[in-house]
Amino acid sequence: MSATKQAAALTPLDIAERKNGAPLACLTAYTTPMARLVDRHCDVALVGDSVGMVLHGLTSTLGVSLEMMIMHGKAVRRGLAHALMVVDLPFGSYEQSPEQAFRNASRVMAETGCAAVKLEGGATMAPTIRFLADRGIPVMAHIGLTPQAVNALGGYRVQGRGEDGHRIKRDADAVAAAGAFAVVLEKIPEPLARAITTDIDIPTIGIGASAACDGQILVVDDMLGVFTDFRPRFVKRYAELAQEAEIAIASYVREVRERRFPAQTHVFDEALGADGVETSS
Ligand code: KIV
Repeated sequence: MSATKQAAALTPLDIAERKNGAPLACLTAYTTPMARLVDRHCDVALVGDSVGMVLHGLTSTLGVSLEMMIMHGKAVRRGLAHALMVVDLPFGSYEQSPEQAFRNASRVMAETGCAAVKLEGGATMAPTIRFLADRGIPVMAHIGLTPQAVNALGGYRVQGRGEDGHRIKRDADAVAAAGAFAVVLEKIPEPLARAITTDIDIPTIGIGASAACDGQILVVDDMLGVFTDFRPRFVKRYAELAQEAEIAIASYVREVRERRFPAQTHVFDEALGADGVETSS
């Protein structure tokens, strides 16, 4: 790893300094090729535990292990040069104690080369965030709808409506005071997200929150139309890649069955000589 490459990469401090600045563009990534694409445009690449549902077919994020996060983190690291890499701490790897969180977060950082971790939870997790931040582990917090708590929350419903908004506001204050460098606000009412963004002094990154947030994040497979099992209201599809892939796969199968693939350009002569040009795309 060259020093130049590391110097060019965004740091948690750079992200924190974008409070009230140009909006932060963030996406998830789980593989090297997708990380390369995200890196060309985004400020933050999150190796989200959504990987369990998006790539592994799990029905929630609860079954995601530390080993899965580390494996996908290593793959993403190889594709990044510019964006800040953040890795999610999976369910069960940090809630028990600040010490457990430190042990697992430091392992994730050492083995993947990420610069920060993300964990779910507000006021309850504030002592853990403080513990990690004081020991050199930058933490992105995640409040509002916290998918790892789906069973306790009774589903993936909007959080912080009416009086419950005070709880989310307290969570935002607590994680900011504990030293989180940024906070994800997921699926909360727009006016609440706007008010929190105005009130706290760390960047808010919205997903189903508000355009007033300091940044936005989406699951990359959702916005590309690759993951189509369900579509939350907060997802805007910028492409329909699953449909395109289906058309391409059907064409391939048709050509194989009709012996139209491979064509002469895809096979090799018996004579020694140039094997043709290998293209990179
Ligand atoms: O796991 C994930 O992808 C996330 C984002 C949606 C914020 O936590």
